Amino acid sequence: MTRHDAPDDPDPFATPADTLGLPPEEMRRLGHKVVDMVVDRAMRRNAEPAVAADTPGALAERLGGPLPEAPGDPDAALELMAEVALARMQHGDHPRYFARVPGPAAFAAILGDWMGTGFNAICASWGGAAGPATVETTVIDWLAQMLGLPAHTEGVLQSGGSMASFTALCAARHAIGQGVAYLTDQTHASLARDLHEMGLHESEIRVLPSDDAFRMDPGALRAALAEDRAAGRRPMAVIASAGTTNTGATDPLDTLADICAAEAIWLHVDGAYGAPAAITERGRAELAGLARADSLVLDPHKWLFQPYDLGVCLVTRPGALERAFAMSPEYLRDVQTAGEVSYGMRSLELSRRSRALKLWMSLRTYGAGTFREAVARGIALAETAEAHLRQAPETWEVSSPARLGIVCFTLKGADAKTHAARAARLSESGFACVSSTVLKGKPALRLCTINPLTTPEDITRTIDRLAEADTGG
Ligand SMILES: Cc1ncc(COP(=O)(O)O)c(C=O)c1O
Repeated sequence: MTRHDAPDDPDPFATPADTLGLPPEEMRRLGHKVVDMVVDRAMRRNAEPAVAADTPGALAERLGGPLPEAPGDPDAALELMAEVALARMQHGDHPRYFARVPGPAAFAAILGDWMGTGFNAICASWGGAAGPATVETTVIDWLAQMLGLPAHTEGVLQSGGSMASFTALCAARHAIGQGVAYLTDQTHASLARDLHEMGLHESEIRVLPSDDAFRMDPGALRAALAEDRAAGRRPMAVIASAGTTNTGATDPLDTLADICAAEAIWLHVDGAYGAPAAITERGRAELAGLARADSLVLDPHKWLFQPYDLGVCLVTRPGALERAFAMSPEYLRDVQTAGEVSYGMRSLELSRRSRALKLWMSLRTYGAGTFREAVARGIALAETAEAHLRQAPETWEVSSPARLGIVCFTLKGADAKTHAARAARLSESGFACVSSTVLKGKPALRLCTINPLTTPEDITRTIDRLAEADTGG
């Protein structure tokens, strides 16, 4: 038999009904084993590498192989998964994982996610998902309250920031009509990708140079708007960042909201990483104007301590999502109830898992106050890092000060290759993981300090290791 030949189909009526189940005692044993493996790993996390990889060949040899035709041993499969697949990745919940944007998931959130998977929860239509839909509406309402958004805020939960911004920008186009979108050279790359894939022409994606603090310059925006209008192009949306990935910079949201109101265009705020800061007093001040967004995206799988697969698209124009995405084919009408939300009508996803369960579970378990303290700690930890860097001016220059849990710094006199090499050596050592980046042509290293399990010592030791030419030590 070649690799692609299917064996003869078995007689369907000879197959016991529970072929794809397991005996109840076996389900419990394996389920408890999974919980033990997850909790054991959480307890050891600090001592394990912050990131690990392997060669494609070595991984394929252990994880790939021929299609298993016959039943196998689930214990062996779970162990292989944990020891090989899940051990070779970035551990975003490790206290010294500072690269890109960490993912410090809270255990109650993991439990919520497991429950949703265990019950195979769907959240597409009201008739088919009244309970999960109510949880999603509740969570959206709680988020709006925590962030200080208007009470009429609506939303939909998505896989992450890229998809949530895509959804918001489709709603913007539906409301305003296709036209030019304005962003900066610091806007996350996924936004331009979203616009391209929506079919915007290159000339409709205006990337403005950011100012010295990496923010959108309202003067440059006004000039671009005037130029486009004079050329007969229709402005559609301003895309502001509430916390850029590079430096944590926030665009001047209040001023941008004024401009958008005067121009009658849409203000989309990408707060995928930074918006959760608005649940703290200091963050709320830094993100002033956030509540004036027509749409806001945030990623609870970043700074609201949720496992991956949770981005939120919030829209403050009631009905805008349904106007862009609702459909009502004859075979769905009996599950769509007038006046109730069918979440499958608020984005491109129809059949969709109930992503709200994990956030609902973790807010019920820890309370918003605990989230607030955890986010405030992340903001303070970046300030600890900045203070430590400033104590060694002969080695480090702070290239972007601590903002919303991010600090960037340059090794004096070193080029981009050296910065990348220092970051790579540190990752290879397993001790910690940081990012390298480039800010206005200058190389930099970058820490994102949003994990509440991180200690000030984790930060100072990481910076000290980066200062050593041999970071493996
Ligand atoms: C500011 C910002 N926007 C958008 C994204 C994209 O989000 P996701 O990776 O969840 O699609 C990221 C990811 O890091 C981000 O930091």
